[in-house]
Amino acid sequence: MTNENTTQQLAPSAFTLTKRDDGIAILSMDVPGETMNTLKVEFGEQVGDMLDQIQSDSAIKGVVVISGKDNSFVAGADISMLAGCKSAEEAEAIGKGGQAVFQRIEDMTVPFVAAIHGPALGGGLELALACHMRVCSDDNKTQLGLPEVQLGLLPGSGGTQRLPRLISVQQAMKMMLTGASVRAKQAQKYGIVDDMVPRSILLEVAIEMAKKPKPNRKPVKLDAMGQFLERTPVGRKLMFKQARKQTEAKTMGNYPSPERIIDCIETGLEKGKAQGFAVEAKHFGHLVMTPESAALRSLFFATTEMKKENGVEGVAPKTLKKIGVLGGGLMGGGIAFVTATKAKLPARIKDIRSDGIAHAMKYSYDILNKKVKRKFMLHSEMQSQLSRLTGSVDYVGFDNTDVVIEAVFEDLALKQNMVADVEEHCSEHTIFASNTSSIPIGQIAAKAKRPENVIGLHYFSPVDKMPLAEVIAHEATSDQTISTTVELAKKQGKTPIVVKDGAGFYVNRILAPYMNESAEILLAGEPIEQIDKALVKFGFPVGPIKLLDEVGIDVGTKIGPILVAEFGERFESAPGFDKLLADDRKGKKNKRGFYNYEGKKPGKEVDESVYDLLGITPNSRLSENTIAERCVLLMLNEAAICLDEGVVRNPRDGDIGAIFGIGFPPFLGGPFRYMDTLGIAHVVERLTHYQQQLGDKFVPAKRLLDMAESKDTFYPK
Ligand code: NAI
Repeated sequence: MTNENTTQQLAPSAFTLTKRDDGIAILSMDVPGETMNTLKVEFGEQVGDMLDQIQSDSAIKGVVVISGKDNSFVAGADISMLAGCKSAEEAEAIGKGGQAVFQRIEDMTVPFVAAIHGPALGGGLELALACHMRVCSDDNKTQLGLPEVQLGLLPGSGGTQRLPRLISVQQAMKMMLTGASVRAKQAQKYGIVDDMVPRSILLEVAIEMAKKPKPNRKPVKLDAMGQFLERTPVGRKLMFKQARKQTEAKTMGNYPSPERIIDCIETGLEKGKAQGFAVEAKHFGHLVMTPESAALRSLFFATTEMKKENGVEGVAPKTLKKIGVLGGGLMGGGIAFVTATKAKLPARIKDIRSDGIAHAMKYSYDILNKKVKRKFMLHSEMQSQLSRLTGSVDYVGFDNTDVVIEAVFEDLALKQNMVADVEEHCSEHTIFASNTSSIPIGQIAAKAKRPENVIGLHYFSPVDKMPLAEVIAHEATSDQTISTTVELAKKQGKTPIVVKDGAGFYVNRILAPYMNESAEILLAGEPIEQIDKALVKFGFPVGPIKLLDEVGIDVGTKIGPILVAEFGERFESAPGFDKLLADDRKGKKNKRGFYNYEGKKPGKEVDESVYDLLGITPNSRLSENTIAERCVLLMLNEAAICLDEGVVRNPRDGDIGAIFGIGFPPFLGGPFRYMDTLGIAHVVERLTHYQQQLGDKFVPAKRLLDMAESKDTFYPK
């Protein structure tokens, strides 16, 4: 290194060019005022200026592209700019602009080396791919990927052309179709980067690389099958056909971007780069304007926004140092896991049985051990995470807990006892958060000495995977308790929504009429496969009957009477399901449900004996559309009623709750955005249609009637 470097900066550029006297220039990106680098349209010109300087300076022999940020290379393109596009042509022009800038980099005569530390995602990786060589740090934070598909888009700045030429086509396609990123080690193995080094020497290594001539790359090594599939015309045809088939089976035709990604890759490989780039820009422009991408982008913005909120404006959460968990069962085990590993807080578990504690510990051990076995985690890291978990069968070690999360059996008297215990054994500030799935929090707090400390914190199973948590304030819950509980849920990696107290809260309340309708359709003789297929095609991850098997038929049927007691007969469930419980059918957990869990394909085929038990002869009469429409309309209507009653605070929270808690199709943006897309008048018309046919559970919500009248929408037009 030398201290005679000269620095030229074009304020307020995000780019700085530092020329070293050994002929290597460092092009550093540091977007002012932001924690992460993201690419913006206006940078095109700034980069252009830098490239002009580099081209006109014959002293520069090589360039290192690096980030000025501590923890990110470039996290992607700033997608908020896409919202302003009025036409596919306009969006296509943005894509072409990005392509042109990166093409200029690739065409530079001196070698460009990308030095990557932290996330290099989307446009960030495309920038690195346009460079002639890449080196990355071996840090855990370093990840490379093209996640555009998750926003209903495709890598529109050359990614669909450069990655499949650099690494195996199948690997590149997989990365683009799933949007999954890879860590440093994998990136090196696949050939995305040329070297991987400790962060401390990243820049030095990159500088040395930039002194070498541009590499003359040979095609990546493939096994015989790979050679056939990727390097022969017949094989390639087969590979793309197969990819399309698998994609179609996964997306059910609901997501337009994956097939366009395949199209870009195929065009580029069969017809050359120029055509590939043209198709990439065209498809990118088209996708930006699809309602699916708009919905997925709104979801992204909503979750980003929610990360900055704490449930109550102006009320800061208390510092969290230690968490207590009551009950080490299925839910308690999961809650302890996310507390210790995501929130990185000590979790003290209490159960009445030492088995319960052992179960909770094993829950975490099993998940972490899998990661160690797959080499995603060091053994020492697993040990340090597990050391945050301790347990006992009494309240020793609970006195200094900030929040105690209760996940004991679903029983009101027991939960009230838990409140009394916590009030006795913990500090007067300790928050009591109940994970009840159906008991109103007000009832749990009814005998509390400090009801302001009592709140609901409702997780979804499996806790380590499901991203939602409902935070339920009852009438006396304090604002401080709300904001601290929201903070805890966020630290545990959840997206929390604050909902009003009441039977079913929000998620189970909108789920119940949907599930009831599917049961009604089944009892009318529609085959189980037909019902589940209809809703999976609609976009749910599993059909409603399968879902009931997964959740547990005993659990699913418990909540119905509670909802009927509070809201009346629109929640009345179809008669006959008690026969299932009498036949000891609890679902997947005891391998007796609607599906067959024995044999070669457990859970895949319907257990035909269930029809006899329910007294029905299956015979398909309804179209898939009708089945899906009947179930979904009731969910939409209930969501509108919830908004009206203040159960959810706004359409955004209602959409996030349904997508993250139930798996409502993300490409539809959630129940409220979907109603906007359909048109409220249309929703009312369809509800009325079914009301006439099937009865008053389809009576449109008053809010929907009013909105149809005034041509209103849930989101600003
Ligand atoms: P579980 O039966 O797997 O676990 C309950 C645990 O609580 C057992 O280990 C039991 O020994 C322990 N326990 C009982 N009395 C206790 C006491 N006095 N002190 C300490 N521990 C005690 O039940 P699961 O499924 O984990 O459910 C727990 C709670 O979470 C229930 O309120 C349930 O409604 C709720 N919930 C369950 C969901 C699910 O999908 N299973 C989803 C969301 C909430």
